[in-house]
Amino acid sequence: MTDVTLTVNGTIRRASVEPRTSLADYLRDDLRLTGTHLGCEQGVCGACTIVVGGRPVRSCLAFAAACDGADVRTIEGLDSDATMVELRAAFTAEHALQCGFCTPAMLITARDIVQRLPHADDRRVRLELGGNLCRCTGYVGIVRAIRKVLDAHAATRPGAPELPQAAEMARDVRHNTPLPVVSPMPSASSSPPSAKESQPGGGVEIRESFEIHRPREHVWSLFADLRRVTSCVPGAELLEQAGESFKGRIKVKLGPIVANFIGDADLHLDPSSHSGDVSGRGADSGNGSRAQGKMAFTLSSIDATSTKVDATITYSLTGSLAQFGRPGIVRAVVQRLMQDFARAVEDDLAGGAANEGRKPARTELNAISLAVSIFRSEIRSLFSRFTRLFRRK
Ligand code: FES
Ligand code: FES
Repeated sequence: MTDVTLTVNGTIRRASVEPRTSLADYLRDDLRLTGTHLGCEQGVCGACTIVVGGRPVRSCLAFAAACDGADVRTIEGLDSDATMVELRAAFTAEHALQCGFCTPAMLITARDIVQRLPHADDRRVRLELGGNLCRCTGYVGIVRAIRKVLDAHAATRPGAPELPQAAEMARDVRHNTPLPVVSPMPSASSSPPSAKESQPGGGVEIRESFEIHRPREHVWSLFADLRRVTSCVPGAELLEQAGESFKGRIKVKLGPIVANFIGDADLHLDPSSHSGDVSGRGADSGNGSRAQGKMAFTLSSIDATSTKVDATITYSLTGSLAQFGRPGIVRAVVQRLMQDFARAVEDDLAGGAANEGRKPARTELNAISLAVSIFRSEIRSLFSRFTRLFRRK
């Protein structure tokens, strides 16, 4: 844990955070400042934009620990800011929002434009908004709203100067960094089990361990048989196999979100160390999402009758599902998958040969029980936050 002191919306906040905690997660989860939204969590959509040290920053890419001593302003802290009051009225008048998901961050960027570029024309406004995505309103109303505030400011400015020439604007664009990123990476060795950490390739890593109440040799015999392994994974189906390469499908359903990936994978086993890995890539043609990843596992004997499985999953997700792929949710899905997998392995081993060639017990993850388990873990983390807060007082 790292101790940090931040000034958030004018109040000094001291906290002890994991080195990998993003500023967005700290603000949302610890301070309950949920006006900062999370979309892609990869620095693409701009939904998490806040103000750090007077400049707009994507808080999903900034680590809270790296912002020690910073002055942070979220949308909640700009409630009575004069420019924000004007912008909010203009957004309402110009129909510059629909679902409102992008709006807090859009307003923060708009405020930055109004304050930093009082002479911006529409082209420049659009350019500056390039880091904020809106999936429903479109940008016409948003640009109109910002234009309205810029024009109102220009009209009240005594002896307002001419708009700058195009060349001057181009120089401004090159020299200004609309969304600076504060993101020194923590070292991988600092991550405890079940950690999320950005990988060099941009993926996320999740580590999980679970126990199977069977001797290691029995568990290994099952892990070496792809058809039996697949039959134990909820929602998974083996479509084709050629040696160590195979084609498969996996379906995960969580409320309205359905992931149905078909892809290829390769399995490598090392019997001498009772370890192996599966790497694969797949696509969900229904929503255009793509995923690739690797799961490395090692079996170790706890005693003569029990085996510990350590698994490290590294994955990256692109496309529309990426916006639901918050590491917390993915981790909950993975934990649930592993619990179900461990139970199914024990069932299989208890049934022995009689189970060979059986159909998978389930065709997909149980959405309701998964949602309940995620809800439970959210409650647990809320409870531990309250406990921490209580202890600090
Ligand atoms: Fe931070 Fe998308 S850029 S959530
Ligand atoms: Fe819905 Fe922008 S108003 S995403």
